[in-house]
Amino acid sequence: MNNTIWTPDSWRSKTKNQIPNYDNAKELSDVEATLASFPPLVFAGEARRLKSRLAEVSEGKAFLLQGGDCAESFNEFSAVTIRDNFRILLQMAVILTFGGKKPIVKLGRVAGQFAKPRSNEMETRDGETLHSYRGDIINGYSFDSASRRPDPNRMTRAYVQSASTLNLLRALAHGGYADLNQVHLWNLDFVKKSSQSSQYEVLAKKLDDALSFMEAIGITSANSPQIKDTEFYTSHEALLLYYEQALTRRDSTTARGHDGYEGDWYDCSGHMLWIGERTRQLDGAHVEFLRGVKNPIGLKCGPTMSPDDLMFLIDKLNPDNEAGRLTLITRMGHENIEEKLKPLLRKVKKEGRKVVWCCDPMHGNTITTSNGFKTRPFQSVLNEVKNFFEVHKSEGTYAGGVHFELTGKDVEECIGGDQAITAEMLASGLYETLCDPRLNATQALELAFQLNF
Ligand code: PEP
Ligand code: CO
Repeated sequence: MNNTIWTPDSWRSKTKNQIPNYDNAKELSDVEATLASFPPLVFAGEARRLKSRLAEVSEGKAFLLQGGDCAESFNEFSAVTIRDNFRILLQMAVILTFGGKKPIVKLGRVAGQFAKPRSNEMETRDGETLHSYRGDIINGYSFDSASRRPDPNRMTRAYVQSASTLNLLRALAHGGYADLNQVHLWNLDFVKKSSQSSQYEVLAKKLDDALSFMEAIGITSANSPQIKDTEFYTSHEALLLYYEQALTRRDSTTARGHDGYEGDWYDCSGHMLWIGERTRQLDGAHVEFLRGVKNPIGLKCGPTMSPDDLMFLIDKLNPDNEAGRLTLITRMGHENIEEKLKPLLRKVKKEGRKVVWCCDPMHGNTITTSNGFKTRPFQSVLNEVKNFFEVHKSEGTYAGGVHFELTGKDVEECIGGDQAITAEMLASGLYETLCDPRLNATQALELAFQLNF
């Protein structure tokens, strides 16, 4: 099946769903050449380490927490946004570690999550038809023809923003901010008013006690990196393949002198890349591109995924059945999950394929309120995750992770939860997303407390 030769550009001869047609080929190729000359954002060795962590998840020894904004934007680029999203993931990881007693693999939707798949290519308003907004890496949000024109130069800006975001994330992960002794400081001021905060403080106190005990026997942040540092990885949907290809590089450490092999290819735009629900065509460009890079990869599986198509894709994307290579991110919707997930679990189990099963309870649960807001009911999100765990339990498979769209900001975009956010409240000015509705920090903690794996 994989007998055709893969090259970093072999995707170009396939159907390119969701990828814009740029109107100036020279402008596009100049940007591609520039990006190809820039340094990689991540290193192959880091992607391999993430793969080995995910292999542990696939064996039931660890748990995956993947989350972040639906889409990063040029306007919202700030240290505060990056830090707040990072710390909400740290807090969730603490809660999940207490709950599940397993290491948590932390994976942000960040430092590259700029492109959005859209159901309609064009948008019409008051008789004017323009390209749909596809994320800041492709075009602008405001509805005028200059802004909506797909502009390749936006890729360079996305690269620069990703590099700078990664720089801060690396500093936060290794510079002392993520030290477990800081666990109280991670509580955000506005979360402090919630019952989730009191619950969190109880855990933080337990953690303090454990750390004091360890300090007494000589294990401290000064001598134990596990306390001082955290491993944090990045991921995004590999949608805009011009960008992905330009950042795809040979890993010289896997080159071999004896037969002239120049090394494995890695997409160095992020540690993990995933294929979206709208770009997972069996013979499409996205599957072709990602089959050839050695990063750990994700595949979104919605309710129309059949067991046979899934097996086809698994064979194509992970022909060697390597543990940690492939994460199946299911997004069925809370009403469908039992019926749709079971046949997939059965098939993959029967065929002995090693995968990580991860639940995205966001993308199958989007509704529009009567006052016109795209939202997600907290209860539907929770139900999908709960059912995900139940179905795995009944099938004897491992529910390995969760995938959330969330923000550390105090927004009101998803209805429900302890804060009892209503459809009317969405109109009150705290609805900020340009794409999908995100869980706010309080809702994210509330959810983490409800997960038991
Ligand atoms: C997403 O994760 O932002 C997304 C668009 O998901 P899906 O491809 O599952 O619809
Ligand atoms: Co989304």
